[in-house]
Amino acid sequence: MKFFVDTADIDAIAELNATGMVDGVTTNPSLIKKSGRDILEVTKEICDLVDGPVSAEVTATDADEMIAEGRKLVEIAENIAVKVPLTWAGLKACKTLTDEGHKVNVTLCFSANQALLAAKAGATFISPFIGRLDDINIDGMDLIADIRQIYDNYGFETEILAASIRTVNHATQCALVGADVMTAPPGVIKSMINHPLTDKGLDAFLADIKSAGIKIL
Ligand code: G3P
Repeated sequence: MKFFVDTADIDAIAELNATGMVDGVTTNPSLIKKSGRDILEVTKEICDLVDGPVSAEVTATDADEMIAEGRKLVEIAENIAVKVPLTWAGLKACKTLTDEGHKVNVTLCFSANQALLAAKAGATFISPFIGRLDDINIDGMDLIADIRQIYDNYGFETEILAASIRTVNHATQCALVGADVMTAPPGVIKSMINHPLTDKGLDAFLADIKSAGIKIL
């Protein structure tokens, strides 16, 4: 499973990138707002840092404007994926931009039917929002599993990019049900390493290193 980082925080991306954990980055208007940066500037910096796809979201709701914005966004760098909302206008923009050879991430997906439409429009990525479904007492992971089955039934190449990941359990479950990608905040990815037995075991080894005076260099 590929890991995308769901942030526009350059330092956080750089820190995780140094560990090999960053296969791509996703941003959205809320994350751009949180960064306090200009969208074009911060997106360019992210693209310079990361080799994989970097999703940048359009601001328009009209298809022609989304297409124009998408064409501007892809000028930033070769690894831009234009993010469009799951509306008919967004799907029209997806089809046009995909036909032009650009990567498109269709976002705000909350149903298997929406994911089917996005695949038919040629989306590179579909972004089902797990946490926001969990928020309204619907199991977001069931949606990932349903989309996996539908895409596999018909050989759709659209990648399932599980989004709105809030917990480390979401990460495990995404990998178990076969999401192609998960995009998670840096804090969630960093928490995946935590295990008390690792800490306890390391403490014991360090005590023995100290008491025995074990040295390598
Ligand atoms: O990738 C989408 C994500 O940014 C939304 O997350 O936690 O606001 O539902 P959240």
